[in-house]
Amino acid sequence: LSNDIRESFGRCLMAPNFLGRFYELFFASHPEVIERFRHTDMRAQQALLRNGLSMMLMFEDGKPIAVATLERLGRTHGPGGMAIPPALYRYWVDSLLQAVRECDPKADAALEGRWRASMERGISFMVQQGTAPGAAAGGGRRGQG
Ligand code: HEM
Repeated sequence: LSNDIRESFGRCLMAPNFLGRFYELFFASHPEVIERFRHTDMRAQQALLRNGLSMMLMFEDGKPIAVATLERLGRTHGPGGMAIPPALYRYWVDSLLQAVRECDPKADAALEGRWRASMERGISFMVQQGTAPGAAAGGGRRGQG
């Protein structure tokens, strides 16, 4: 993974409310998103997202922990789990990119393009896990159905 995305992520995390702003944008992006999170403790969720984003970035380097984590997320989010419609991932990426734009003072079109391409590679891997034959969720989670 190019270091510039990692450094951009670092700058975003230094901004006062990067993760909170992401969820604000994500919830406003599509009515089904806020519906899915209505029972969620958003404080805990922000920490989970921060870790999830690190794993998305590490996935680009083929780190085994990141591959295993995205496999698991693919199952929990996929048809055998919460059954998140794959179409909602577009809103996730768009919200993330908007939050990066607002929180990273050095963000420009080229950097945003690399962020987007990187996230899309992780997402397509995640979505494949969820739909792979025999894929099953690793335990029931709230927000299901
Ligand atoms: C690549 C994109 C995404 C990443 C990295 C991600 C990451 C995570 C993580 C780390 C969790 C914590 C639970 C777990 O580890 O399984 C989680 C839960 C969840 N995610 Fe995602 N997610 C993504 C996309 C989405 C999308 C598009 C939706 C659509 C609404 C969504 C809805 C949820 C819901 C409803 C939960 C459960 C919240 C709860 O426990 O109440 N996620 N996600």
